[in-house]
Amino acid sequence: MAAATTLSKRPNNRPAPADNEKHRVTVPDFLAAKARGVRLTMLTAYDYTMARLLDAAGVDGVLVGDSLGMVVQGHENSLSVTLEEAIYHTRCVARGVRRSLLVADMPFMTYQISPQQALENAGRLIKEGGAHAVKIEGGVRSAASIAAIAGADIPVMGHIGMTPQSVRRFGGFRVQRDADKIVEDALATEKAGAFAVVVECIPTDLAQKITSAVKIPTIGIGAGAACDGQILVAHDLLGLFEDFQPRFVKQYADLGRDVVQAVEKYCREVRDGTFLAAEHGVR
Ligand code: KIV
Repeated sequence: MAAATTLSKRPNNRPAPADNEKHRVTVPDFLAAKARGVRLTMLTAYDYTMARLLDAAGVDGVLVGDSLGMVVQGHENSLSVTLEEAIYHTRCVARGVRRSLLVADMPFMTYQISPQQALENAGRLIKEGGAHAVKIEGGVRSAASIAAIAGADIPVMGHIGMTPQSVRRFGGFRVQRDADKIVEDALATEKAGAFAVVVECIPTDLAQKITSAVKIPTIGIGAGAACDGQILVAHDLLGLFEDFQPRFVKQYADLGRDVVQAVEKYCREVRDGTFLAAEHGVR
């Protein structure tokens, strides 16, 4: 995988627009990474600002996940996210991504009806949203749709194991342990033409078996370290989302606490007159 972007710093210490970037991560790069044994990194983003930061930090892939239903919209699951909302958020993220591969999730009921429906809607995420690839849940049951989309040269990422759009059937976001079925799903996803597959919330040894069984990279979330890459919801990793905290998440920052403390300080300083100080005024 290409090296992470070197950030040139603006005076306010934010990453500058990365004009110096030489390489955009591509679908062939994902496949090559597996062949070379280089682990892939992916995170979710739903808006320009977050996309810009993740991209500048050198993440290989950015996913506009339908987790936006929970993280951005405040629902208890992703089922209500619409295609129009996915397109809107993908367009916002596309403006912030300069290097990473941009993958857009296909929301619930935008690909289940027929391969033709799946292809039409995948096309909209590419043409209107600016995505480079789409992600679809389900292995065997989604194989015809994956094949239709991939057959039109739209790269498809599969998603198997604990597929969040199946939350009603699973009775919650539960670890999935039906090894035979999940292996079958992985093989069907690869055969249908997907370039990578997310494996979510399955036992580590099963994820390892799948990773050895397929040539496409496995991107794990709650599936152990043997996967070819890892993905997390960026808000979980950054400590920004408290409503739902899966056990497998490693929190690398506590930005939620930092935001609350900063806003508390702002409120105090406005109230006691410390802000606005003379240097912040307009002369
Ligand atoms: O919607 C999502 O965020 C996902 C994950 C794999 C993180 O599908």
